[in-house]
Amino acid sequence: MSNLSEAELIHMFKGIPFTTRSSLELLKSLDTFDAREDDVLLVSYPKSGTHWLAGVITKLYDPQVTLTSPIEFGDKSNLEELNKLSSKRIIPTHLNYNMLPPNFKNKKCKMIYISRNPKDTAVSMYHYYRDNPNLPTVDTWTAFFDLFLKGDVVCGSWFDHFLSWEEHENDKNILFLFYEDMKKDLPKIVKEISLFLGLHVSDDDIQDICKKSSFSEMKNDTEKENCDSSHTVCSLTSNRRLIFRKGAVGDWKNHFTPKQNQRFEEIFNEKMKLSKM
Ligand code: A3P
Repeated sequence: MSNLSEAELIHMFKGIPFTTRSSLELLKSLDTFDAREDDVLLVSYPKSGTHWLAGVITKLYDPQVTLTSPIEFGDKSNLEELNKLSSKRIIPTHLNYNMLPPNFKNKKCKMIYISRNPKDTAVSMYHYYRDNPNLPTVDTWTAFFDLFLKGDVVCGSWFDHFLSWEEHENDKNILFLFYEDMKKDLPKIVKEISLFLGLHVSDDDIQDICKKSSFSEMKNDTEKENCDSSHTVCSLTSNRRLIFRKGAVGDWKNHFTPKQNQRFEEIFNEKMKLSKM
């Protein structure tokens, strides 16, 4: 819940709503950002499990990498800070494919895209809107549901975001992951990530990483400040305590009415008719 008006919190860039935590000056200069061949991008629509994946990846590399702030966060000086880093960079972003600085594409940097059932994503985002003072106030789930389907939320339409990345699903430098698969068999996905990144990790280390990346461990670490609770990989907040809510699959069933579900399915089928999902 925020005391600021929507106009103070949100501005549009290339037709997509961004929070004012991403300055227009920064957004305009993203195209000139200098990527490095060994950069790894961690890409998601908000609330898809970005922090979970970031936790896994940093543990896989430990301690040789820097998990940076999101590339679209802050003002232009943020990009200068990123340029100054001498270590290998893991760079998070909620940008859609078309907005990504072209240098990442030209240099064929490795990118990992994590996606989640859009119904659960919508519910998670609804709670985020309610708890996060950087986002406009939403009164009810019903009101948020409509905004989500219209794409009238930060980072725009879930469908457009997903489709912009899915088009590049077969690019060798892009790995597609699903939140639900991580929930089902985390060791399998961690192995897949390590192979994609060219890292040699023993089965024991994988088990250890999975243990340390469980929802309860990550939530506890944040609450006990075992990690920096004022550092997130989401451009919409710097408060890690807002991230770990429920960590479940299927929470949408506790929010969607049968009518909302039907409407969602219709729009999903229409928008995703060319998708393999
Ligand atoms: P919920 O709001 O449904 O609980 P992001 O990191 O992209 O902002 O995504 C946040 C969502 O991922 C939240 O979903 C959060 O609880 C969930 N999450 C974070 N860490 C997790 C973990 N270790 N295991 C499962 N879910 C996790």
